[in-house]
Amino acid sequence: MIQFNDVSKIYNGSVKAVDNVSFDVQDGEFVILVGPSGCGKTTLLRMVNQLEDITDGEIILNGKSLKELNKIEMRRKIGYVIQSNGLFPNMSIEKNVMIVPDLLGWDRKKRQDRFNHLMELIGLHPDEFRKRYPHELSGGQQQRIGVARALAADPPVMLMDEPFGALDPIIRNRLQEEFLQIQKEVNKTILFVSHDIDEAVKMGDKIALLRDGQIMQYDRPAEILNHPKNDFVSEFVGQDRVLKSTSLYSVKDLEQTVGLSPHDDSARIKTIKENTSLRIILSMLLNQEADHLVVEDSHGNKKGSLTLDHIEKFLQVEVREKNDGVSLQHE
Ligand SMILES: Nc1ncnc2c1ncn2[C@@H]1O[C@H](COP(=O)(O)OP(=O)(O)OP(=O)(O)O)[C@@H](O)[C@H]1O
Ligand SMILES: [Mg+2]
Repeated sequence: MIQFNDVSKIYNGSVKAVDNVSFDVQDGEFVILVGPSGCGKTTLLRMVNQLEDITDGEIILNGKSLKELNKIEMRRKIGYVIQSNGLFPNMSIEKNVMIVPDLLGWDRKKRQDRFNHLMELIGLHPDEFRKRYPHELSGGQQQRIGVARALAADPPVMLMDEPFGALDPIIRNRLQEEFLQIQKEVNKTILFVSHDIDEAVKMGDKIALLRDGQIMQYDRPAEILNHPKNDFVSEFVGQDRVLKSTSLYSVKDLEQTVGLSPHDDSARIKTIKENTSLRIILSMLLNQEADHLVVEDSHGNKKGSLTLDHIEKFLQVEVREKNDGVSLQHE
């Protein structure tokens, strides 16, 4: 667990980059730090990794204040993906990924197995990439290598500073999906920086929304979307927060709340799985990929069908009636 107790950082005696921040990150939790440029996100991560001194307050890692921990030892147990992937240009991909295991003196066989495993995890073929250099990879591939490197020695804690920033939406989306999948397998305590609220809602167990070095709200994504604490939060989250909240639900949630209709073979139909995000369903319907979506469970049994009407009804019941003060964008 990581605890921030009244943490402040003042650069050069005057720039208050982090201002009296307190929050806890539980073991296995995926927390997203989000906020405008310059609000102190990178500074917070760098303090956890002791790359910056803490001006005031303390950070406690698994019950011990950072001050009591040996910097070098500690950093080996924390995977850090820096804001621009930070690969060493003159080292091969294998060398780059295996920096920490090399420092830890792992034997050859263990290193090889680990490299192969990590590359499979991030979806790149180990033998194809092993001997290449960073400049011979695309931007998206380099970012994935950055993630593999941070995972290499299997650290319990990961600090990730906009690991998917500067990527086009399609690759970004794929990396987000892949990383959520990876997180299910490896279950680490993660502090992840983003300035994209959509990414935060999609990925985070919790979101810490920062402004001028202060925490505006620290909550589950649904709470941030449905109960923004102040004007800054609601503005940051955006007018369309009801629509954003669709990424928190799957078709199964909709099925349980408003039910499905019998399916109609005469309509323009497409088949989807029950665990699909409502956000994806909504965009399929809005893009007119189909009028009716036929829902299948994991065994391929047809459960019924849904249309835009179902989603509207679901949002009405699930989001708007439960949370006063939330309105759809065009109202
Ligand atoms: N080494 C430094 N010396 C002085 N001021 C700094 C230093 N590093 C950061 N700052 C200032 O501290 C504040 C927070 O910077 P930080 O890099 O943590 O922001 P950020 O939220 O990560 O921004 P971005 O989204 O642009 O990456 C900014 O005002 C920045 O100018
Ligand atoms: Mg930053």
